[in-house]
Amino acid sequence: MWNSVAIAAIQRAGSTIADTPASLSRAIGKTAQLLTRQRGTRRFDYLADPVARAGYLAGYLVPNGMRLQHLIDREQPFAVAPRRVLDLGAGPLSATIGLLLSTAGHQVREVVALDTCEKAMRDGTAVLREIAPQVEVTLVTASAVGRRARLPDGPFQAVLIANLLSEIKGSRESIARHVREMVVASVQRCSGDGCVLLLEPGTRVAARNLMQVRDEIDPATTAILAPCTGADRCPLLGRNAWCHASHPVNVPGPIARLRCAAGLTGLELSYSYLALAPQPRPVTRDRARLISDVMADRKRRLRYVCTADGLATLEWTDGDAVGDLALARRGDSVPRSLARAWMSPPPRTGRDRGQRGPATRGRRR
Ligand SMILES: C[S@@+](CC[C@H](N)C(=O)[O-])C[C@H]1O[C@@H](n2cnc3c(N)ncnc32)[C@H](O)[C@@H]1O
Repeated sequence: MWNSVAIAAIQRAGSTIADTPASLSRAIGKTAQLLTRQRGTRRFDYLADPVARAGYLAGYLVPNGMRLQHLIDREQPFAVAPRRVLDLGAGPLSATIGLLLSTAGHQVREVVALDTCEKAMRDGTAVLREIAPQVEVTLVTASAVGRRARLPDGPFQAVLIANLLSEIKGSRESIARHVREMVVASVQRCSGDGCVLLLEPGTRVAARNLMQVRDEIDPATTAILAPCTGADRCPLLGRNAWCHASHPVNVPGPIARLRCAAGLTGLELSYSYLALAPQPRPVTRDRARLISDVMADRKRRLRYVCTADGLATLEWTDGDAVGDLALARRGDSVPRSLARAWMSPPPRTGRDRGQRGPATRGRRR
């Protein structure tokens, strides 16, 4: 199914600008610059530019949709299959399309998409029509944050907020306030069995923003479904580390080729996320989340886990029958009983440096 999304996205991108693989790759390259190096200087309405929009459609819709699908299929955050969906900062509806192609997406009947850029949403609607013509789509051109924010009325079984947080403009304090207000308003628009999914890149800055949001959640009104395992405070926030998942992925060939020609070669889906529910639900305390890759020295294998009691180190040697502890990917969770059998005291902060994690950088703040 992702192949037909890919083809529809490429065709739509091609109808926006000159339709040759070389021009689409150049557009992807331009969009990549806007999303990374030029992030600080780009205009807030950068997707109004046809080339940037074509680049986003051809190069980002599918990987972003696959991230959302991966998250849903892994966490199963919905108590019932969603019928009504709200997509905030929808862009070309990447998150909605990811939900539609997930295990939980088969019952979706209505999508309300909100973004400041109507053209991006129209592009995405054309793609969505190819795969789910039965779904009714309403587009709302508005801001999701600030004094002028008017979020559509609920209830929704799913509120999707994907790759939006880093686009919100303002001072550090005002961004934090806007995000808090948007999250509260989103949770209020969820049905009792619904869920708000926040998805961001797996980068240090994006993941730590989400960790901060998580620590400011009011437990009286909102339950944290994932990725947290029940610790009261995020144990990584004080360590200058960041929590994210990464998994290998097969982006459909036509998209992979265009991205590759634009210099984007990553085959990993790396993302950070937060799944919230409007009513407190029992917190699962019997899982431990693997928040690093396996680190090896001559004698030992080490891995960090997050549990209801906070951060811990798992330690074993070659030949120990640790099963999933060695094989699972960063971000996966395992039974706490399995982790507990190999637990040693939490890592000291000074040892936390290095690439293989938990993702850390620089000095402790
Ligand atoms: C990086 S794109 C993400 C699009 C889509 N959710 C995805 O994951 O691919 C960010 C989107 O947020 C929109 N946006 C930025 N600021 C916004 C705001 N204050 N309110 C609503 N949408 C906003 C942009 O127009 C853009 O479409």
